[in-house]
Amino acid sequence: MTVRTFLPLAAAALLAGACVPGGTRSTPQPLCGPNDVPPQPSPEVPPMALQPLVRDIHSFAQPNEARVRHVVLDLRADFAAKTLSGTATLDVDAAAGADDVVLDTRGLAIHSVTDRAGQPLRWALGAADSILGQPLTVQLPGGGDHVLVIRYQTSPTASALQWLTPEQTAGKRHPYLFSQGQAILTRTWIPTQDSPGIRQTYSARITVPAELKAVMSAEMLTPEGEPVSGGRAFRFRMGEAVPPYLIALAVGDLAFRPLGPRTGVYTEPGMLERSANELAELEKFVDAAESLYGPYRWGRYDVLVLPPSFPFGGMENPRLTFATPTILAGDRSLVSLIAHELAHSWSGNLVTNATWAGFWLNEGFTTYFENRIMEALYGPERAAMLASLGWRGLQSAVVDAGGPTGADTRLHIDLAGRDPDAGMTDIAYEKGAAFLRTIEQVVGRERWDAYLRSYFDRHAFQPMTTETFLADLRANLIRGDAELERRIGLEQWAYQPGVPANAVQPQSGAFARVEAQARAFGQGTAAARLQTSGWSTQEWQHFLGSLPQRLTRAQLADLDRAFGLSRQGNSEILFGWLTIAVRNRYEPALPALEQFLTSQGRRKFVRPLFAALMEQGEWGRGHARRIYAIARPGYHPVTSGSVDVIVK
Ligand code: BES
Ligand code: ZN
Repeated sequence: MTVRTFLPLAAAALLAGACVPGGTRSTPQPLCGPNDVPPQPSPEVPPMALQPLVRDIHSFAQPNEARVRHVVLDLRADFAAKTLSGTATLDVDAAAGADDVVLDTRGLAIHSVTDRAGQPLRWALGAADSILGQPLTVQLPGGGDHVLVIRYQTSPTASALQWLTPEQTAGKRHPYLFSQGQAILTRTWIPTQDSPGIRQTYSARITVPAELKAVMSAEMLTPEGEPVSGGRAFRFRMGEAVPPYLIALAVGDLAFRPLGPRTGVYTEPGMLERSANELAELEKFVDAAESLYGPYRWGRYDVLVLPPSFPFGGMENPRLTFATPTILAGDRSLVSLIAHELAHSWSGNLVTNATWAGFWLNEGFTTYFENRIMEALYGPERAAMLASLGWRGLQSAVVDAGGPTGADTRLHIDLAGRDPDAGMTDIAYEKGAAFLRTIEQVVGRERWDAYLRSYFDRHAFQPMTTETFLADLRANLIRGDAELERRIGLEQWAYQPGVPANAVQPQSGAFARVEAQARAFGQGTAAARLQTSGWSTQEWQHFLGSLPQRLTRAQLADLDRAFGLSRQGNSEILFGWLTIAVRNRYEPALPALEQFLTSQGRRKFVRPLFAALMEQGEWGRGHARRIYAIARPGYHPVTSGSVDVIVK
């Protein structure tokens, strides 16, 4: 790989053969004529060399040649056409001699590309790859002023965007739009270099119908919007450089309620009361996270509670976590998901996986950190229960990945030729967290916490690879202690399949008691006679996960009657119950199953339930097809895309 350093723009301009304002005839460059645009190095350009980036197989960009530094969006949301259209203006840093810049796009209609002054630039879209989309190669403007103005429009089927009809919202009166960039979907709505190692600042002006409001993962400059022709415009600024998968937008009938000095919640007006109540402790979450691993560096921390089709539990968009409404249990029992997304403000958003092969660096660190926040706020027993649920998830992820020798049970994963979604398993989350828990146990909490805090400081706003993490750990924690390195087993954890034997398995006393009750039920004790009083959501989840795989129809009816499982309002408990019901072909639960699958589109719930149905012969396949026909139009492309391959 040729490593080029970046030159200051003025120098780059000379080498690129641009015109020179007021230059002398002794230089080989031509003087600027009346129609030339003199080079205008923007004042923010850092005059130092940029770090070379590792190759990302999921991006066409060649960031060591030319790299997007800042994005300015000026877009209008058209709900009738289901398109965003307008301009993306990109500020590019270029290596000496670079003539063009390669961007990522997928399904975008590119209308024109010009320089800052409106002069056309040469551009070409390359061959389409079904996973990566199409490279957009643009000639760099001369004069060292590497600003490109791309006029474009998104496709109505852009995978990052879901356009909801009024019926798909809580209020039923207004349409709604939201984006989801991770992992490689930002290129379906913004033509930029869509690689997590290529950090970019951004600003935006979003024009929406007058009755709607826009929010972004950025500082809101115009809370009330500004009247413009055909609607209202909202302006935003993100002054910290972020990977493009964290650029996010939502538009809808949104209300806001502050929850603390720097925290608050956005959602549809009819959801505001419930959401504010569920998230009442949000400010304390941020305080707890800061006490653990250092200052929160993003200003505000707000949560947007989305309509039920949001395909994920949560998404850590900076300053504005996007969350599924399925966490609104009414008793704050599912808020660990918010602890998780908040923790990403350090692991993921500050220190970011350089490529998706290092997804575990985002998710494993975050899962570990999430649990520490939960421990700080709710005590060690709650944290132990959550960690135990994660441990069980890890065991089944290992089975799903082909057992302990399966290639995809490795933390550093090989995604060649695959969509990065393939790496989105509990291996990254739970094996990653188990790795960090194991280091904690070996070196002691005090030393580990000091290390982790310094890790976030040292690498803030930088990309991270597995290799760099191991090097950092060796330099700053292990410091040549061969015995310590052996006890941790660094290389094995990072690069080998399976779960190493020294993994610290979480222990929960409460769960041991829950398992005893599940055993008793399996051996014939009636449900009503089990000792379940005072059980938390996590104990119910564990109970359902501990029951024998095969249950009789009488046992299922007994459970449902005694505990009202089919009527559960808690999404995690209901999901656990429906999983059991499908596995045992328990027909009386079918109405609840259909209701659940057609009323929310969170992939973590939807995909396994359809997969479980498909495993139940003609009986299950018939119900899967029937229910999916009703549910699919309401799902986000991310969810329907992964259910399509299951329900054929
Ligand atoms: N960043 C992820 C969501 C994600 C990962 C989206 C990969 C697209 C590609 C987010 O932080 C997350 O992990 N969400 C989880 C919840 C969490 C509590 C485990 C989810 O959505 O289920
Ligand atoms: Zn996460």
